[in-house]
Amino acid sequence: MEFDPSKISRVNSKNLKKFKKAGVKITCLTAYDYPTALALDKVGIDVILVGDTLNTVFCGMENNISATMDQMIYHTSIVKRALKRALLIGDMPFMSFQAEQSEAVRNAGRFLKEGGADCVKVEGGLEVIPTIKKILDAGIPVVGHVGLTPQSVHRFGGYVVRGRKPEVRQYLIESAKALEDIGCFSLVIESVPADLGKEITEAIEIPTIGIGAGPDCDGQVLVIYDLLGLTTGFRPKYLRKYDNFAQRIEDAAGRYLDDVRRGDFPSEEESYS
Ligand code: KIV
Repeated sequence: MEFDPSKISRVNSKNLKKFKKAGVKITCLTAYDYPTALALDKVGIDVILVGDTLNTVFCGMENNISATMDQMIYHTSIVKRALKRALLIGDMPFMSFQAEQSEAVRNAGRFLKEGGADCVKVEGGLEVIPTIKKILDAGIPVVGHVGLTPQSVHRFGGYVVRGRKPEVRQYLIESAKALEDIGCFSLVIESVPADLGKEITEAIEIPTIGIGAGPDCDGQVLVIYDLLGLTTGFRPKYLRKYDNFAQRIEDAAGRYLDDVRRGDFPSEEESYS
């Protein structure tokens, strides 16, 4: 029988594998607020990520580094309220898992207990395997994240494509396999050459979700405000803008400003008798 994703009443860490098996692409977007999450779930987006990108696209910071656990939990719990079908991923922010394994487990647990997330995402490759193992041992499903991992932006010297050098390519392939072996149920691959995205996707059985990793990943993810054109000045090669919300907000607010100044708003119909 043909696999129909709309027949899945709730996407979870187990049935996500069915997409890959059936060759049906997984759709994933970030969300940070209730109305957006409501719309994404309604339209049938399979996976919603409360990414630490909220620090940049929502809060206006220069990078994701200063995102805190409390911020992440707050936004995860807001998005959770909107979801009926989508799988909800909470993104472990910088320094929530790097220093101590027990701290990592406790922080991952907060995403499920306080944020209502279904699972967590952890950036990194071979070096984070022991920590992810502990999180998994606590019964918390984990999504890996390899390639351009933005929490390491200072080590990489910027937002650069990863995996062009043979040794980095090898490290990323080994990392992906190790993350699968210890029990991650999915893997985000960010900003790598398309042929590497394909190679990793074919090398592992868990579904890959790509962002700037070419068309052969098992699914795709974009930052919602980038897709909507709400963020300006950020134009990586992989980004397809589906709208121009920044302009639309300016237009609407500008018309409101004119109406109020002219005394045209509120009208009689918009006033109580
Ligand atoms: O934080 C985030 O939004 C992410 C995606 C870009 C994959 O990690």
